[in-house]
Amino acid sequence: MRKWTAADIPDQTGRLVVVTGANSGLGLETTRAMAQRQAHVIMACRNLEKAEVARQELLRQLPQAQLTVRALDLSRQASVHALPRRFVRSISALICSLIMRG
Ligand SMILES: NC(=O)c1ccc[n+]([C@@H]2O[C@H](COP(=O)([O-])OP(=O)(O)OC[C@H]3O[C@@H](n4cnc5c(N)ncnc54)[C@H](OP(=O)(O)O)[C@@H]3O)[C@@H](O)[C@H]2O)c1
Repeated sequence: MRKWTAADIPDQTGRLVVVTGANSGLGLETTRAMAQRQAHVIMACRNLEKAEVARQELLRQLPQAQLTVRALDLSRQASVHALPRRFVRSISALICSLIMRG
């Protein structure tokens, strides 16, 4: 059986995809893959400085990418509740790239 790769991701035009932990590791690679497929990716990150560095690096490689940084600390309920409802309702896909440990 053929292995699934990121090349199998279908076109994401018109979709709003939120990736948590998007400034490094799995989240960064997920962001890259979804942006390459024309998604508008919201990079939901705790560390906004690291997120902006990652966004700029991705834009150097993918100048057409639609990337927006948004603050989100998943360990703080107030941070999650601060997301505007209208924004949450418009999300097409939410990809969590981190495992929270209690
Ligand atoms: N990489 C692998 O091959 C692999 C394999 C199996 C499992 N995993 C698991 O998958 C998860 C991600 O791995 P990774 O390699 O991508 O790790 P990573 O490079 O350390 O990335 C973790 C991301 O999660 C963010 N984060 C941590 N706590 C957060 C919080 N409270 N709110 C919002 N964002 C938060 C970090 O943001 P900051 O920059 O703010 O810290 C960072 O962007 C880990 O749990 C890891 O154990 C990874």
